Amino acid sequence: MADARFSSSTRDIPEVTTVPRHIAIIMDGNGRWARKRFMPRVAGHSRGVETVRTVIRACMERGVEYLTLFAFSSENWRRPVDEVSFLMQLFMKSLRKEVTRLHQNGIRFRVVGDLSRFDPKLVEIIRSAEELTAANERFTLTVAANYGGRWDIMQAVNKLTARAPERVGEFTEQELAAELSMSYAPEPDLFIRTGGEQRISNFLLWQLAYTELFFTDTLWPDFDVGTLDQAIASYGGRERRFGRTSEQLREPVAAVETAVPDPGHHA
Ligand code: IPE
Ligand code: IPE
Ligand code: MG
Repeated sequence: MADARFSSSTRDIPEVTTVPRHIAIIMDGNGRWARKRFMPRVAGHSRGVETVRTVIRACMERGVEYLTLFAFSSENWRRPVDEVSFLMQLFMKSLRKEVTRLHQNGIRFRVVGDLSRFDPKLVEIIRSAEELTAANERFTLTVAANYGGRWDIMQAVNKLTARAPERVGEFTEQELAAELSMSYAPEPDLFIRTGGEQRISNFLLWQLAYTELFFTDTLWPDFDVGTLDQAIASYGGRERRFGRTSEQLREPVAAVETAVPDPGHHA
């Protein structure tokens, strides 16, 4: 179930903090990083794991509470078989190696995505890492693997309609949000995509409704604390209006909130 502490950006106005509470990243550009060095594409993926470590540490130091990383999209199966199996092996190897350290650092680890296509061995490692770290509260690291935003919305719709077929046509945004695979986290405040492309590539479609977007040409293996700070600084300088005017932002919050009608209400 969705955590009641987390407001929906389209239903209420979330609290805005200078440092984003939740950062979601599309880690792109590994292949190009390797190619530039005349190395096989997969060398870029290996190097990218080091960036993951750096970014987790830096986010924790900066007071970020949730970090969500897109590791493998539902469309990435279209890649050459060798690259796909390398990525699966790398995921398994990295997880085996890092899980104790994640746990020691108070990190709750979660994976979102359709795991049914994964090697049962990998699923087992994922599930046991999730179990081990479930009670950690300092920081939540989510890896999106075989994830697609459309898959996520569809599986939520299917759960709702299967559970209460008599209510078809009446479901609310909150009910759907509660079935999404990341209902345990607030919506991302800041989205970062490395590698120069400016697209969402079927990442968290529902949750990105009001997320601030930051695109950088830096390739993922080159992404570092400096680039992260640039993204956070850019975020800090933005005016998150959630539909309101600039002038309204300076008015007392209570007065503004009562003016927001309920979009799900059809009286
Ligand atoms: C992102 O890097 C990693 C994954 C999709 C797994 P890419 O592999 O997409 O790197 P480029 O975009 O080809 O450079
Ligand atoms: C998106 O990267 C998915 C991940 C980073 C895991 P891609 O490099 O696969 O994205 P597209 O297909 O070029 O948009
Ligand atoms: Mg790419």
